[in-house]
Amino acid sequence: MAQTLLKRVSVNHFNMLQIRTKATLPQLTFEYKALEPTISRDIMEIHHTKHHNTYVVNYNNTLEKLQTAVAKDDTATIISLAPALRFNGGGHINHSIFWETLTPSSTKRSGDFEKALVENFGSFEEFKKQLSSASVAVQGSGWGWLGFNPQNKKLTITSCANQDPLYSTTGLIPLFGIDVWEHAYYLQYKNVRADYVNAIFDVINWDAVSKRFADASA
Ligand SMILES: [Fe+2]
Repeated sequence: MAQTLLKRVSVNHFNMLQIRTKATLPQLTFEYKALEPTISRDIMEIHHTKHHNTYVVNYNNTLEKLQTAVAKDDTATIISLAPALRFNGGGHINHSIFWETLTPSSTKRSGDFEKALVENFGSFEEFKKQLSSASVAVQGSGWGWLGFNPQNKKLTITSCANQDPLYSTTGLIPLFGIDVWEHAYYLQYKNVRADYVNAIFDVINWDAVSKRFADASA
């Protein structure tokens, strides 16, 4: 996902080797049409190549501006870049998790993850109901999330506005998020967000979500 660039820069008359990481658009592990009929080919292609890619481009542009501002010790400009970093960097983080946790294949929740779902929500059905409700209830654009709380080791359902990234905003480690921006469903589901949220459970990659849970709770 990331490529490392090495640049020689002159700082205080000394040449220093600076390492900068540039975000790149991740490749999907399946074809755009693979999630049909749950998510149409057109939505997937536009979502990945236009929306996600725009976040990547704007995040990298903002990083360039940040690098220049840091080199000039321009604190006011550094601070002014925070909203753009949050929005575009958040968009990149959120969509990267989204693609990783969707699949056309049949997948299964791990025993440990299933046990945690039952302990925290009572049943899988109750978990699905709560995540769906939180996602449908987002006002305007945002994401519904299943997160892992590293403090009390509990699974938590919440939502974030716009592209606010879950960990940076709440301290929860993201396991799976439902993108409820209209760009994620409007071409197919029109204004009926609830139908899209209900359908997306058919294409969740439970292997990937279970792995994210195992990594977060290790
Ligand atoms: Fe999106």
